[in-house]
Amino acid sequence: MSRIAVVPGSFDPITLGHLDVIERAAPLYDELHVVVVHNPDKAALLPIAQRVSLLESSVRDAGLGDNIVVASWSVGLLVDYCTDVGASVLIKGIRSQIDVAYETPMAIVNRDLADVETVFMLPNPAHAHVSSSLVRQVAALGGDVGPYVPPAVGRYLRSS
Ligand code: PNS
Repeated sequence: MSRIAVVPGSFDPITLGHLDVIERAAPLYDELHVVVVHNPDKAALLPIAQRVSLLESSVRDAGLGDNIVVASWSVGLLVDYCTDVGASVLIKGIRSQIDVAYETPMAIVNRDLADVETVFMLPNPAHAHVSSSLVRQVAALGGDVGPYVPPAVGRYLRSS
């Protein structure tokens, strides 16, 4: 039986912190699905299709991709996506206690709903301060987001 895991998120846009988690998780599973999910609690910068495209470029440019599937999901519960693709694990990057507090109830609900376990991974501390919301703000105010995002995202944000 193949081990399939899902890394879900808004990825609006993908940051170096996200990419670090994807890179660490990929060797642990046969298949890793990186899934863009609409989060109604957050004001979006990029359309979902653009986020998927930047994820694909970032994963490819980082030399990853052999066992990575990039997808989006907007039609129901995240665990329904997991069931559809045969995944039993969700992976979340944890930067701080704030992330633990935010993620814990979702992890419990996802286990209740469909027996999907959540694995928390610690990204490189060098990226602990990086978030998509910070990137969106720096980009909106004309700052250089280069240190926080994969090159494909930096190029896209500079040109848009
Ligand atoms: O990058 P984000 O915005 O922190 O990601 C949050 C996300 C999209 C992973 C979270 O909002 C989510 O899991 N949404 C799916 C909706 C769902 O299934 N909710 C019920 C169980 S938590």
